[in-house]
Amino acid sequence: MSQSSGAAGIESFYLEARTIEPPVGFRERALVADRDIYARAEADWEGFWAEQAAELLDWFEAWDTILDWKLPFARWFIGGTLNVSHNCLDRHVAAGRGDRVAFHWEGEPGDTRTITYADLLEEVERFSNVLESLGVTRGDRVAVYMPMIPELPVAMLACTRIGAVHSVVFGGFSSEALRDRIVDAEAKVLVTADGGWRKGAAVPLKANADVALEETPSIDHVVVVRRTEVDVEMRSGRDRWWHELMADARRHRVPEPMASEDLLYLLYTSGTTAKPKGIMHTTGGYLTQVAFTHKYVFDLHPEEDVYWCAADIGWVTGHSYIVYGPLANGATSVLYEGSPDFPTRDRWWSIVEQYGVTLLYTAPTAVRTFMKWGSEEPAKHDLSSLRLLGSVGEPINPEAWMWYFEHIGGGRCPVVDTWWQTETGAIMISPLPGVTTLKPGSATTPLPGIAAEVVDDAGKKVAEGGGYVTITRPWPAMLRGIYGDPVRYRDTYWSRFEGRYFAGDGARIDDDGYFWFMGRVDDVMNVSGHRISTTEVESALVDHPSVAEAAVVGAKDATTGQAIIAYVTLRGGHHASEEHGQSLRRHCATKIGPIARPKTIVFTDDLPKTRSGKIMRRLLRDVAEGRDLGDTTTLADASVVEEIRARAQAAPSEE
Ligand code: WT7
Repeated sequence: MSQSSGAAGIESFYLEARTIEPPVGFRERALVADRDIYARAEADWEGFWAEQAAELLDWFEAWDTILDWKLPFARWFIGGTLNVSHNCLDRHVAAGRGDRVAFHWEGEPGDTRTITYADLLEEVERFSNVLESLGVTRGDRVAVYMPMIPELPVAMLACTRIGAVHSVVFGGFSSEALRDRIVDAEAKVLVTADGGWRKGAAVPLKANADVALEETPSIDHVVVVRRTEVDVEMRSGRDRWWHELMADARRHRVPEPMASEDLLYLLYTSGTTAKPKGIMHTTGGYLTQVAFTHKYVFDLHPEEDVYWCAADIGWVTGHSYIVYGPLANGATSVLYEGSPDFPTRDRWWSIVEQYGVTLLYTAPTAVRTFMKWGSEEPAKHDLSSLRLLGSVGEPINPEAWMWYFEHIGGGRCPVVDTWWQTETGAIMISPLPGVTTLKPGSATTPLPGIAAEVVDDAGKKVAEGGGYVTITRPWPAMLRGIYGDPVRYRDTYWSRFEGRYFAGDGARIDDDGYFWFMGRVDDVMNVSGHRISTTEVESALVDHPSVAEAAVVGAKDATTGQAIIAYVTLRGGHHASEEHGQSLRRHCATKIGPIARPKTIVFTDDLPKTRSGKIMRRLLRDVAEGRDLGDTTTLADASVVEEIRARAQAAPSEE
């Protein structure tokens, strides 16, 4: 059934009627067991966040103003000072919880490390001193390009300890993507590793970094963790081994008192243009909201729970829900380096069983992959320790939700579908598992203290039906801007609808006020929960000497949510072939990273354009998703589409 919505081009296909109440046993122990919290927060939302900031964090000095809001610029807890590493480490150790495990780390080859809060504090203090010895001071940017090893959170926390700003670049990004991010941030130091393990192979991080470093004049030093022990080149004077620096580092470093609004980190994300945006997050408001959401959305009981967010720290999910939220709350987490099918397809379930994981947070694309692999894989293991499941990154279809609920959660664990973005910093729309009636496929309603609305094209609130997702007032973890580009910040998020933050997502709102997300409404694709801009991939393709023109669209895909489909016109003298398609895929991987490889490349002599020369992506999406074509009367040459459709049907796809 297809239900048409008010806003242009947004349709929702599900009318999901199932509801699931919080299991009685869960509700009885839940931190939030009373819906009062919503009304309380609404009555005084600034006061509500101030209460959370005071209760969840340790401040060196209290703030005097909760919020200063001059649209689009928010400042929270002004006058307050704090330190993130102190909140994540020192205060737990000082309270006698130094022996609590912070991370049960497992490498892909099977090696393990158990890291307590006391251990983590010691490493962070030492690395703070290492960074300082390399000339890093307050406000300097440090780029981090690492596998999922304990040294990654250590490096991040060490930055926060001395007031430096980290910019973590996902280890799957290419040299060029790394270079662009280092250059934009003008990072002084790069922390990396010789490599990391992925599906049994060593990913050559240092070798990739070396290519980037040819064109990054701001970098003075590179610190290299030894992980895979592959041979790497160490440039003398610039490159230093982590273990050697750490062996010589002093043990203690006091945490630097930081202003609430001091920059904490940059994280680059894709928008609708080819240039990624350096999203800015600051200290006090960010930590407040990540601690709040991590505690209450996951119903964290830190003495008993074993929490596992199976994302990569290189994405915002890892920043907020592997590093800062869990550590601020004194949680015990699992950290896993590698791939879910190494050496076998039950690796995750053996980890859940081995560590007694109680709270598991992952992405719909992973759930759909596990569905494909079959329920026999989780059935090989005792998963009875699990008591709550989370989902993030893209809409989770009701079938995948139910499979997750039944085959992983044994029908007893609430599933919290959490909607948020790199820009929001923390979860915004999600159930509170002790009190929210769940509907499979819906992220349910805004959290206490958060106000979100769906609006139509004209910016009018839609009480029921489809439209654009907006946020109607500032929230503590909101981005403070785009690094170096305040104009783009205002234009991208605060111009489309007056007085509202525009998220770029479409959603339907049902008669209970529940949000049903329907994906992006702009030129941003969501592939396996990762944001990739169509323009970025187009630029990469056109950068190839054989390509004259390219148009990229995201098409629905059963496993990855969306898949990248590229329509490519070659220059004269170049010929379409499967090998040529492969070389274009490799080129995208080199320019952006393996996640940007198109699944299908359709070679075509022409692209469908309007008379004014604008590529009609809507038509290309229709072709890619095998739909009947709508209105083609504005096309300059209508025969182009039939040609493309025939070629698209014949084009090979990559798994
Ligand atoms: C975009 C943000 C938030 C961390 C991971 C992605 C989509 C995210 C959901 C959800 C439907 C979701 C949106 C959003 N998204 N979570 N629960 N339901 N859609 O962060 O890379 O900044 O991407 O991911 O489209 O705008 P990101």
